[in-house]
Amino acid sequence: MIGRCLINLYLNAIYAVSGSAEKTIKTEIKMQNKRIVLSVEDNGTGVQKEIQNKIFLPFFTTRSGGSGIGLTLSKSIIEAHKGYLNYKPLEQGSRFEIWFID
Ligand SMILES: Nc1ncnc2c1ncn2[C@@H]1O[C@H](COP(=O)(O)OP(=O)(O)OP(=O)(O)O)[C@@H](O)[C@H]1O
Ligand SMILES: [Mg+2]
Repeated sequence: MIGRCLINLYLNAIYAVSGSAEKTIKTEIKMQNKRIVLSVEDNGTGVQKEIQNKIFLPFFTTRSGGSGIGLTLSKSIIEAHKGYLNYKPLEQGSRFEIWFID
């Protein structure tokens, strides 16, 4: 299930960078505050400020052909593992963090 969550994050990242000349998608795993954090970053379009609080809602999508369930499902998968999934805007692009809480 965590693999499915990662696939959702990578698919979103791939869509976001599709128009960028220099496409970068970066994954990092580190310890922070004694917790494991896995992040997926892209240098794509980013999420407009007005909709940043909507991206985890069921059926919210900005993509034609998108169903808007990817992030909703991903968040519930991580929460079922007692973790958190959050979004952080970058200067250029997006960062999604999975916090694994033991
Ligand atoms: N990495 C990203 N960069 C920019 N926008 C993103 C990114 N990830 C998600 N979004 C925004 O959040 C919305 C919701 O994402 P979500 O994955 O839930 O649905 P979707 O990708 O549109 O459709 P699907 O159900 O096929 O995943 C996207 O439509 C897009 O607007
Ligand atoms: Mg998606």
